[in-house]
Amino acid sequence: GEWTSPSSFALNGIPIPRMFTPDPAALHDYVVNFQTRVDDVFIVSYPKSGTTWMQEILWQLYNNGEVSKRKIFERVPMLERALDNGRPDVRTLPSPRLIHSHLTYDVIPKAEGCKYMYIARNPKDVAVSFYEFMKAHGPSGGYNGPWEFFARIFMEGKVFYGLWNKHVLEWWKHKDDSNVLFLKYEDLKKDLSGNIQLIAEFLEKPVSADTINKIAHQCTFKEMAKNMATFTLDGPKLLRKGEIGDWKNYFTPDIAKHFESEVMKELMDTGLTFDFEA
Ligand code: A3P
Repeated sequence: GEWTSPSSFALNGIPIPRMFTPDPAALHDYVVNFQTRVDDVFIVSYPKSGTTWMQEILWQLYNNGEVSKRKIFERVPMLERALDNGRPDVRTLPSPRLIHSHLTYDVIPKAEGCKYMYIARNPKDVAVSFYEFMKAHGPSGGYNGPWEFFARIFMEGKVFYGLWNKHVLEWWKHKDDSNVLFLKYEDLKKDLSGNIQLIAEFLEKPVSADTINKIAHQCTFKEMAKNMATFTLDGPKLLRKGEIGDWKNYFTPDIAKHFESEVMKELMDTGLTFDFEA
């Protein structure tokens, strides 16, 4: 079928889904004037990189390993969706606030005391996950074109939140800032409890080894999937497959070639590398 462009608006140059707010100008002001607090914790990512996973880990870390049935977006709300109907207004949350966002480094509200956890994922799996997620919104709200065309617009940055490489590399530049922790999806897959330990140390949260192990168990894909209603939006699910390497089921030699020259090339000499296999 024919592809209908999902509508977006630009927030400081970044394409944001139009469905996030009835009033883009008000949202722009909301983000620009957002008052940070010293104990704010931000989870930041390009879409489909493991945001939900990080949200759940953080929430459990701050709630002594409790598994909640409440929707994940109520517990760890999204900054740039705060003016949407039924979404929490982040300004009114009690401290410490756990906030998530897909905003780029230059746009996200910044302050010295705030902590930023950036999660990145190999771009081939990101593109596939993004495609499946957009498709899951149905023909009216999402994307109903072929995968090959989605791969093309992904490489060109003509998707929500723009170019993957630009987003990730901007944050990568700040990986050694004392208030930034740069994490990778594939590392979490390979050693979840070790990474939760790292996160707890970064947040200066004393957590027992037992609690770390408990959270690691409860945050495996299999365990989180038992609580799927929590991770379901109005239709689309935030958990799908949860694997490294699903891209192999989608990438043609032609797409792979273009990915090398248009996406992977940008990572050369940056020190940023990814695992593409489990
Ligand atoms: P797939 O579509 O490849 O399955 P985000 O939360 O940023 O939207 O990212 C969604 C991706 O993270 C989906 O990838 C989803 O399945 C995966 N994911 C969510 N929870 C996970 C978990 N506990 N373990 C592994 N992957 C997880």
